[in-house]
This record gives sequence, C-alpha cells and structure tokens, in this order.
Amino acid sequence: MAVGVFDSGLGGLTVLDALTKRLPDVPFIYFGDNAHAPYGVRTADDIFALTCAATERLWAEGCNLVILACNTASAAALKRMQETWVPSDKRVLGVFVPLIEALTERQWGDNSPPREVAVKHVALFATPATVASRAFQRELAFRAIGVDVEAQPCGGVVDAIEQGDEILAEALVRSHVEALKRRMPNPEAAILGCTHYPLMEKVFQDALGAGVRVYSQANLVAESLADYLTRRPEFRGTGAQSKFLTTGVPAQVSNKATQFLRRKITFQAA
Ligand code: DGL
Repeated sequence: MAVGVFDSGLGGLTVLDALTKRLPDVPFIYFGDNAHAPYGVRTADDIFALTCAATERLWAEGCNLVILACNTASAAALKRMQETWVPSDKRVLGVFVPLIEALTERQWGDNSPPREVAVKHVALFATPATVASRAFQRELAFRAIGVDVEAQPCGGVVDAIEQGDEILAEALVRSHVEALKRRMPNPEAAILGCTHYPLMEKVFQDALGAGVRVYSQANLVAESLADYLTRRPEFRGTGAQSKFLTTGVPAQVSNKATQFLRRKITFQAA
C-alpha cells in the first residue's frame, strides 16, 4: 500500500516533493495524466471522468488514499466524487482547504463561524476551470469575511509548462500578473491556485513585487497530510516502492519533469 498523488500533468510534482521531504518513510505513487493535460480548459464533467479514471488506477496500485494535487480537479470534481463515488474504505483529498486554512490562520477542523482576517486584498491565479468554479471563494467564505478576492484565469500557462516552454510560460505569467494588477493594483497576498505555478514562483514573485506574500500549496498540503496520517494511520502505506506513472509518452514526460524539477525523474506508462 502507498499514498497516491494525482495531477493532470507535471504540476503535482511540486506537491510530491514537499510530501516526500515531510514524510520520507511513506511510499508515494504519482500519476500524471499528461495525455489529457491541460484540464483547466475542460468541462466539469470531463474533469470528473478523467479524475475518477486516474483515481481508480491509483487504487489498483494499492493506494487507498489519493491526494488530488490538482486545483482544477479539486475545484471541479472532488465534491462530486466524495458525495457520489468514493467507497467508504477509500479516501480522496484535495489541495484547496490547507491553503485557505493558512490564509485565514485557522487550525485543521476549526469550524467556528467566519471572522475578519488580516489579509483583505487577495489575488488568485488559477486555471480557467478553477476560476469559473468559484470553489476558492466558496471555501474562503466559510472561514473569513471582508476579503476581496480578484481572480485571474491564467490561460496557456499549464500548456506552456507541459510543452517544456519556459520562455512562453514566463511571458504568460507576466502578462497575467499585469492583467490582474490593472484590476487590483495593490494585493497584499497572492495565491498560486494551480500546482503547476510553483514551477514559475520566482516569476510570479518578481512580477508582483517583493511586498506581496505569495502562498503556494506544497508545504501546506504536506503538513496537512502528516496530520491526517497521524490521525488515520490505516491510510499510511508500507512496503511499496514509490513510482511515477503517466498517460503520456514516458520518455518525453521524464525529460520535462527532470527539466522543471531539476532532478532526475523517470516515469513509466500508466
Ligand atoms: N496542476 C493543475 C492545477 O492545479 C493544472 C490543471 C490543468 O491541467 O490545467 O490546477
């Protein structure tokens, strides 16, 4: 048994890196649906079907717990999966809630009414599907009041990263930050609401300016998973080897993953 980590492509590797650092004894099986990325321009039904198929593949590897290290799947499919599809002996968790808990300075499971928080102007960068779902604003409204969120759908960025085109990805990030700043000139915080974007975090920070606190998910999700596995140790995997599965062409995906993560990563066919 191991813990499964899913993303539409390479972005979830940013989360996987933090998970393996925080939980070095837990075997992780990564599944990148590179053949179908980007998800961010797909319909909710399509994202639901693809995410369920990937999750089933990870269950077949013995992963009873699957982390959707993909905001688009977490926003567009997770609630429906949990309500209609996940059997009681399995768990599927998303990456949204830990981020919002950090932004609103809450502890895990704090269900008290929403309250005022320090940050008032928040820029959200995410895929078109995540922005359209308004899932971030919905989760935030359960926990905080008086926060102004300006969301920028960052079309093209995931595609450029999946193609290995760092120059295009950088140009697109800068133009999306400019577009957002025209609507919200002085955000106090920025959320990288797509797990691909930490691969471009320096560019986001540079374009936003040093005064803007940039939140990305990897470490926050790792802390939450460590806490979850302490409370639910039956979902902690033992014995299995970590591995990387892809629906794409393994050699190509391995090269791009190695380029972006700056360490050797070898994928095999899913
Ligand atoms: N990494 C995915 C996310 O966090 C990217 C989705 C996509 O494929 O567009 O949203």
